[in-house]
Amino acid sequence: MSTPQISPSILSADFSALGADVQEVAAAGADWIHVDVMDGHFVPNLTIGPNHVKALKKVTSVPLDVHVMISNPAEQVQWYLDAGADLVTFHREAVWGDDDARVVIEKIHAAGAKAGIAINPETSVERIAALVGDVDLVLVMSVHPGFGGQSFIEGSVDKVAQVAEIAASLGRKDLLIEVDGGIDPTTAPCVCAAGANMLVAGSAIFGKADRAAALKNIREAGACEA
Ligand code: DX5
Ligand code: ZN
Repeated sequence: MSTPQISPSILSADFSALGADVQEVAAAGADWIHVDVMDGHFVPNLTIGPNHVKALKKVTSVPLDVHVMISNPAEQVQWYLDAGADLVTFHREAVWGDDDARVVIEKIHAAGAKAGIAINPETSVERIAALVGDVDLVLVMSVHPGFGGQSFIEGSVDKVAQVAEIAASLGRKDLLIEVDGGIDPTTAPCVCAAGANMLVAGSAIFGKADRAAALKNIREAGACEA
C-alpha cells in the first residue's frame, strides 16, 4: 500500500498562533506545510507574503510547500525563494505561454527548490501537458482558489487521472501529483485512486480539535495499491 504525502494548509490555522499550529501538525507527521499566498488580484483574497515564509522557516524543519496564487509569478517567485520556500507552485493561468512558464520553473530550480504548476478547475490538463516534463509537481485545484472550506469539485478526479497518464507516458514515477481543495477522508480515496500522491487539507485538519487524528485519517483514507 502507498500512502499520500499530506500538506496541511495553514489558511485554516489560527493566524494568532501560527507557529504553534504549524508545530502541532509537524509533530503529527505532516510531510509539508502548505502556505497559500494570495495577492488580492489573481484571487479575490489577500493572505500572507515572503516575511511569513521566512518566519515559518524558523519554527519548523518540515519543508514549505508555497502555493502562489499571484498574477506576477515571473517576478515575485524570487521573493518566496529568497525567504526559504522548498517548493513553489505557480498558476498556469498567470503565465500563459510555455516558454514564459519555463523561465519561472528555471528560476525556481536555480534556487534549489522544487517547481510546481497549478491548474484551476476551469483549466484543462491539456494546457500543462507540455510542461509536465519540466516540473516536479502538478497541482490540480479541486475548488476555485481563494478560500478554504469549499466543497470538492467532482470533475477534478478525471483531471488527476489525466495528469497521472501523462506522467506514466513520460516515465515520471517521481512526479508529485497534488490535489488542493475540499480534501477530507471522504474525498481522499477517489483522488488517490486516480493517481494523486500529495494531498492538501486545510479545514479538514486545522478545523478539527484533534489535528493529529484528522491528518492520520486523511492519509489512511488515501492509501491505495502502489
Ligand atoms: C484555496 C487554497 C487551499 C485551501 C484549502 O485557494 O489553495 O489550499 O486552503 O482549504 P480546504 O482544505 O479547507 O478546502
Ligand atoms: Zn493551496
